[in-house]
Amino acid sequence: MQLEGKIALVTGAGTGIGRGTARRLAEEGAFVYVTGRNLEPLEKVAADIGGRARAVRADVTNKADMDQLAELIRQEHGGLDTIFANAGGGHPISLEQITTEDFDRQFGVNVKGVLFTVQAMLPVLRDGSSIIINTSITADMGLKDFSLYAATKAAVRSFTKSWTTDLKHRRIRVNGVSPGVIPTDAYTTELGMTETQVQEYVDLVTPEVPAGRVGTAEDIGDAVIFLASDASSYITGIDLVVDGGMTAVYAGKA
Ligand SMILES: NC(=O)c1ccc[n+]([C@@H]2O[C@H](COP(=O)([O-])OP(=O)(O)OC[C@H]3O[C@@H](n4cnc5c(N)ncnc54)[C@H](OP(=O)(O)O)[C@@H]3O)[C@@H](O)[C@H]2O)c1
Repeated sequence: MQLEGKIALVTGAGTGIGRGTARRLAEEGAFVYVTGRNLEPLEKVAADIGGRARAVRADVTNKADMDQLAELIRQEHGGLDTIFANAGGGHPISLEQITTEDFDRQFGVNVKGVLFTVQAMLPVLRDGSSIIINTSITADMGLKDFSLYAATKAAVRSFTKSWTTDLKHRRIRVNGVSPGVIPTDAYTTELGMTETQVQEYVDLVTPEVPAGRVGTAEDIGDAVIFLASDASSYITGIDLVVDGGMTAVYAGKA
């Protein structure tokens, strides 16, 4: 129980990495606020977790939602020990086809959403707490048609460094966690793949992953637990890559 007594917030927790991470945080003893735009999946996640979670509808791009969430956390628990700023996503678009709407949408959730999640929580974040931002290995990879998404993730990776300095006086640590290939709901919803296409992609990519498999939401959850816990108390301003070694020794075939 590495997080016994801690209060955590996971944005975008109704599906995918957020859901798996919220479960792992609760298993380690944290009470977890699970948030997103749709209450139904969040309530299911909270029910699965049991008494250690609370579902709240909150859109990270809506400042009023995030301010109300901070006030709720203050009233119910007095403060917050960990934020996992996870809500986000994006789909491939060629450079020629990116519209201003695509730009606003992807930067709106992935960058503006992260900034204003953290800003809204600052009054309730306890000194010595831990902020973890979900970045992505794509920020460094130069993947075809992923320039817009990758740029959003490069931007939030930069936040981890600037905010480490900005929040130093409060001993608040700020790190990124950079997932590799984690087949989640997003592969069919955001990326528009069929189940068969997801499996074909997994089969293609698996030989390129030194760990011998693609990742799971819980793999990311374990890294978040580490960055949220005292075990990482001397680590801040980094981006922790959790990709089974794929980018460290990428063979470039997938
Ligand atoms: N899966 C991967 O391989 C991978 C790799 C690297 C990085 N990532 C990052 O991991 C994070 C989670 O992705 P995922 O793969 O788990 O996808 P996912 O299952 O689609 O999860 C994204 C979550 O974000 C929520 N969300 C979207 N817009 C929101 C908003 N404006 N306010 C609040 N919540 C919002 C969605 O719920 P609602 O629609 O109900 O709001 C959804 O639950 C993203 O930041 C993604 O970029 C994923």
